[in-house]
Amino acid sequence: MSDQDERDPQELRRILAGQLAAGGHLRTPPWREAVETVPRHEFLRGGFFDRVDLPGRPTAWAPVMPDEPLWLERCYEDESLVTQIAGTIAPRDLRGEITRAPTSSSTMPSLVVRMLEDLAVEAGHRVMEIGTGTGYSTALLCHRLGDDQVTTVEVDEEISAHAGAALGACGYAPHRVIGDGLAGHAAGAPYDRTVATCGIVDLPPSWIEQTRPGGVILATLGGWMYASELARLTVHEDGTASGRFLGGQISFMLARPQQPPPLGVLPDLDQGDEHPALLGADALNDWNTRFVAQLAAPRTQRITLDRDGRTEHVLIDVNAGSWAALTETNGAWTVRQGGPDRIWDAIEHHVNRWREHGAPELDRFTVTATPNGHTITWPGN
Ligand SMILES: C[S@@+](CC[C@H](N)C(=O)[O-])C[C@H]1O[C@@H](n2cnc3c(N)ncnc32)[C@H](O)[C@@H]1O
Repeated sequence: MSDQDERDPQELRRILAGQLAAGGHLRTPPWREAVETVPRHEFLRGGFFDRVDLPGRPTAWAPVMPDEPLWLERCYEDESLVTQIAGTIAPRDLRGEITRAPTSSSTMPSLVVRMLEDLAVEAGHRVMEIGTGTGYSTALLCHRLGDDQVTTVEVDEEISAHAGAALGACGYAPHRVIGDGLAGHAAGAPYDRTVATCGIVDLPPSWIEQTRPGGVILATLGGWMYASELARLTVHEDGTASGRFLGGQISFMLARPQQPPPLGVLPDLDQGDEHPALLGADALNDWNTRFVAQLAAPRTQRITLDRDGRTEHVLIDVNAGSWAALTETNGAWTVRQGGPDRIWDAIEHHVNRWREHGAPELDRFTVTATPNGHTITWPGN
């Protein structure tokens, strides 16, 4: 018998639950009972990908299959485990390593349970989950609320089918929907709770429409500069929703239809207006500052170019055709900008206003959503 055969998944679950409780993520007995019961490894039977970071090359991913040493233990570590790469590739499809982006994963358990706690569900609640993934978080919901109370929407048919098989093997049968979760699932509405396990750039009006007044939407709002926060919104009678960020620098892979567009042909970065920048591009290394910058330029993507012996920090709004390129010489920053909007001027203005108001933390920001879009403000703004 191998070491792995001797390990008891139930014991591993108890240890994980203890760690999640000690870390303050798992806060209530019903969710602890669910974590101690639902076998996460059953949702990872298709294997997962290990991250491989080597100097001088992009991040690669290597498959780890269930017959490999430590697979079972890894399933009960507080780690996100990537289960799909580049929209189609599963661990079983690959030998060696691949350097494309992850497109599905089993979210790290501390974040899964934190979100379930923040969702504040009660017995009898109907929950819509967007992003079934492996089905692990769906199973926790089914365990707590019962199959009939849970609707889970996944955009990827194959991922949904795998999740369905794992859920079935564990004795769970939620309403499993294949489709774009940004449209919700009107047939099962109204829901008491809507929870998204993929990130969003725009809050879909369907989620407000399909969550009952007084109900809660929990979703990670971000942008294409990849700073995001978990928001909890309460839906109101008038068809709007409002709430706060909960803090913690939460990030999720973005909902597929809200991924950034391809960069296309880069603009001529030697053209454009040039002037000294008040704010350096290094300010964007700070999560909160980047989040605020993103509010001023929500469709902007950020890339770094090394050309002519210097590093250029480039921001591009592909659809608008606007761009800004920043360079540093002896600590002084210069910006060149082109296209219809002056992206960096707008970012500087917004970040400076936020700083003038004392640079409040993101958990003091307010989110207000209507069917026409959402706005994010900080105290005093
Ligand atoms: C982080 S994973 C989900 C983790 C999952 N809750 C778990 O515990 O395994 C995010 C999932 O969202 C899915 N997704 C992305 N865009 C979506 C969309 N528009 N509608 C529904 N699902 C989407 C992805 O395919 C991916 O499986």
